[in-house]
Amino acid sequence: MYRFDQVTVCLDSREVWVDGDPHRLSTRAFDILELLIHADGGLVTKHDIMRVVWPHTVVGDNNIQVHISALRKLLGGKQGWIKTCAGRGYRLVRPAAEPSPQRSGRIHTFVPATPAWRGQPSLSGREEAIADIRALLAEGAVVTLAGPGGIGKTAVACEISRYAVSDLDVEAYFVDLAAHCPTVSVMQATAWALGAAGPARLEEILRAVGERKVMLIFDSCEHVIGELAVLCLSIRARKPNVAVLATSREPLCIPDERIYRVPALNVPAPDASNAEILMAGAVQMFLRTGEAMGSAFPLDSTTLHRIAALCRRLDGIPLALELAASRAASIGIDAVLSDADDLLLSIRNRLRYVTRRHSTLEASIDWSYQLLDEAERIVLSRLARLDGWFELASACELAACESFDIKAVRDSIAGLVSKSMIMTRGGTASEAWSLLGMVRAFMLRYAARIDAGESLESASAAAEPILAHARSAQPMRSHTNAPAL
Ligand SMILES: Nc1ncnc2c1ncn2[C@@H]1O[C@H](COP(=O)(O)OP(=O)(O)O)[C@@H](O)[C@H]1O
Ligand SMILES: [Mg+2]
Repeated sequence: MYRFDQVTVCLDSREVWVDGDPHRLSTRAFDILELLIHADGGLVTKHDIMRVVWPHTVVGDNNIQVHISALRKLLGGKQGWIKTCAGRGYRLVRPAAEPSPQRSGRIHTFVPATPAWRGQPSLSGREEAIADIRALLAEGAVVTLAGPGGIGKTAVACEISRYAVSDLDVEAYFVDLAAHCPTVSVMQATAWALGAAGPARLEEILRAVGERKVMLIFDSCEHVIGELAVLCLSIRARKPNVAVLATSREPLCIPDERIYRVPALNVPAPDASNAEILMAGAVQMFLRTGEAMGSAFPLDSTTLHRIAALCRRLDGIPLALELAASRAASIGIDAVLSDADDLLLSIRNRLRYVTRRHSTLEASIDWSYQLLDEAERIVLSRLARLDGWFELASACELAACESFDIKAVRDSIAGLVSKSMIMTRGGTASEAWSLLGMVRAFMLRYAARIDAGESLESASAAAEPILAHARSAQPMRSHTNAPAL
């Protein structure tokens, strides 16, 4: 998915939306748009366009111009995204921002699809989280919303950015780091979001910020966490007027960072009454998703208890609930409840605008799995044999072996907690650890595939090209190691 202000483009399904409404674009205009997107800001010559769009015909320049002008109209008009390089071709670049003083109190750039964006009233079960994060923002200017994929980090960040804009009177800039990877650096993505003119350099970013009260929202940072940490440090050192809100499966680990671990939505206890079931955030979200899909679930006691059981099984993870509820809306709750974990892992997201990472639970977990180091992968696969909460001692005993002592296991467990692959219970003095049910199911499935002789690469569900980039990036473990900019 690609976003250009209010325009969203899905190359896979060849669809375009403006402010969420479908927009018709001719096949050739779409082909040209695709070329421009793939060029990633680079020049697309008329010859390139001819070769790809009219491979077997010779056509005049005016044919190209007709489609370019349709694209230009779509993407912000004359001062918009399509730049003409006289006599040579076209480039797709973020329009330069207008001068700033009157711009305060706005969210710039596209904010991703959240329930509010889809016209749903608000987030389910996040009142406490929102209040806690507001308090953290008042304490420190760098807040990281950490947690596993699909837990609702982006949704909460969007809610917080609206609050910051309306109540703190800041300008919010949304930098979607997953959308830009692997071809674009964090610096470049930030510069684009700010509408900074000139090359993507720190100085340009600082100049674009000026003295305004700005909040930079960096979304989906885990694969570039080291690069982002360095940039945030550099920006904050020179511009204390910039606040940072990051969403990541792993924290930034920079001074002054406040980390908020986004919790799963509340699930009802097995013996909960109907009223208690209806109060649980996970159930509310499940019911709302059913309604949004056009098939509201009945609220009789049997149905409510089945929904509650499903919410418990999915550990209250919003993405899992969204997928299961949309599946239940078409084949029924009983059918989904009786599905094996394997099937739940591969339910396809019906929403068109989601990233590939959110297309199934398996893809979401695989994204995180690919970011683990070898030792963490081994420990995670060994711990997948433990069902429910476990103690550190039993985990170390199970995972240690001749070539892998207790210290190495402990280091890996710490890494897995930091990367949100293992959950802890008991706050800072954690007393128990566990894998989310679906992470465990993923690991067991993975192990079964390897046992059946599949190669490591093909057993991995959805390794995206982005991961090659992520692997080559050196994560910065501590700010003291930060390379000089
Ligand atoms: N509290 C909530 N209420 C309703 N929908 C939610 C809530 N939290 C998340 N969602 C939806 O669940 C899906 C996954 O959430 P997202 O914020 O993208 O997760 P993350 O950023 O942690 O990977 C999205 O479609 C999002 O809109
Ligand atoms: Mg996200």
